[in-house]
Amino acid sequence: MLPIGQKTLTDQIGRRIRKLRISVADACNFRCHYCMPENSTFMSHDRLVGPDEIIRITSHLVTRGVEQIRVTGGEPTMRREFREIMEGISRLEVKKLGLTTNGLLLKKHLPFLRDIGCHHINISCDSLIPDKFNRITRRQSFEPVMDSIFAAREMNFPLKINVVLMRGVNDDEIIDFVEFAEKHDIPVRFLELMRIGQACSDQRQEYMPAQDAIDLIKFRRELRPVTSENDSTSFNFLTEKNGQIGFIASESRPFCGTCSRWRLSADGFLRACLMSDAGVSLKGLSPSEYDGVFERVLPMKPTGRLTEIRQNMNEIGG
Ligand code: 5AD
Ligand code: SF4
Repeated sequence: MLPIGQKTLTDQIGRRIRKLRISVADACNFRCHYCMPENSTFMSHDRLVGPDEIIRITSHLVTRGVEQIRVTGGEPTMRREFREIMEGISRLEVKKLGLTTNGLLLKKHLPFLRDIGCHHINISCDSLIPDKFNRITRRQSFEPVMDSIFAAREMNFPLKINVVLMRGVNDDEIIDFVEFAEKHDIPVRFLELMRIGQACSDQRQEYMPAQDAIDLIKFRRELRPVTSENDSTSFNFLTEKNGQIGFIASESRPFCGTCSRWRLSADGFLRACLMSDAGVSLKGLSPSEYDGVFERVLPMKPTGRLTEIRQNMNEIGG
């Protein structure tokens, strides 16, 4: 229910904005080869939107109907004020607060995240083979990430593993991931490699459509479809061994027609679409100016899928 007198954020083709992804840092302690080059440079701290301003903007969006919030990066735990921001957002009236992280520094934050009522954690993990994982992320990172995953599992934290499908890189591990989902009762979601920034160059070679992964899994498992919300980005299945498997097929089966998301970047740029750099900066504005900006951003969500974007994923907010 919106406060009296407030209008929902609904665009020209009836898409209502009810989800917000907030990037709190463009910096990352990994260098996944599809995301950013080894020698990346990041925003200086004074360019980032401060915690109070993030909360102010988010709170205003909540009065306009945003009901699910996901905090992302870069890597959100790299932000000095990570806890302050999470804590502030957790006090807003939202149905769902989630976190997307690479897991490296996650373990020590888990009790805090449970205490503030963070509902859900997505952890990226593109390989179950330590050397390969370290090669993809260009860091010695496999063990601490696994440690975080199992610590979160141990605490019964609702979590998901995100796997970016890459032909010739991890397509030989698809069944291993399905078995991982079954064995540990952790949902695994396979993401198609999108033509974003750094990935534009590898994408032609490494891109693997979700359907190819599904076909491969079907040799070994029966996949029962599971229904999801109509603005869900994933479509999901249950294996006969109760493994929860999902696919985000943003290249082969775009979901722009039902997209309900906006994104706020670490420097306060509000945009209507992952694939378009159109947007408006909210940094430094007074809250009385926010509604005007929202009106300008609403029509910026494209009605159909744009093919690629040159900006890197960590700058946009994953
Ligand atoms: N295509 C698909 N997924 C990507 N991610 C980062 N870059 C890309 C890309 N080009 C993933 C990360 C993380 C999630 C937020 O997005 O691996 O799991
Ligand atoms: Fe960091 Fe995520 Fe980019 Fe990997 S994909 S470098 S973990 S922001």
